[in-house]
Amino acid sequence: MKSIEGEAMQNEKDLSRRAVLCGLAVLTLGLIPDTAIAATGVKVLANGKVEVTLSKNPALKKVGGTVQFEDGSGQAIALVRTGKSASAYRALNLACTHEGTNVTKSGSKWVCPNHRAEFSINGDVKVGPARANLVQLPIKVSTTKVVVG
Ligand code: FES
Repeated sequence: MKSIEGEAMQNEKDLSRRAVLCGLAVLTLGLIPDTAIAATGVKVLANGKVEVTLSKNPALKKVGGTVQFEDGSGQAIALVRTGKSASAYRALNLACTHEGTNVTKSGSKWVCPNHRAEFSINGDVKVGPARANLVQLPIKVSTTKVVVG
C-alpha cells in the first residue's frame, strides 16, 4: 500500500514528466515560431529610404541573421546578413511573389502562410506556387548603417 506522501511524489513526477514530454513534442513539431527579430534603430528618412543602424541589431552579426521592419508605406521588409564580408546584406520585400501575402520566417527560410510557397533565407524561391524570388531592394552599406530603398 502506498502512503499519501509517496502517491503525491509519484503524481508530481508524472506531472513533470508529462510537462517535459509536451515541451519536447512542441519542439519536435516546430510549433515554436522562429520569427525574424524586429529591427531596432530603424529610421524612415525624408526621401522614403530606411536607415538601419547595425550596432543596434546584433542579429545581423551572424550570417543568415535577419531583422524585420516596415518601410514608409508599411510594407514588411527583411534585412538579411548573407555572408561574412562587411557589405554582405540583402534587403527583401516580404510580399510573396505569388499573390502578395507577407511571408514569415520559419527556421532558415521564409514561408508564405497563404499557399505555402517557400523561399530561402536569401529570398530565392524553393517551393511553389510562387515562381519568382522575393523582390530585392537596393541597399547602401557603410560600416555603421545599411540604407534600404
Ligand atoms: S500568396 Fe504566397 S504562395 Fe500564394
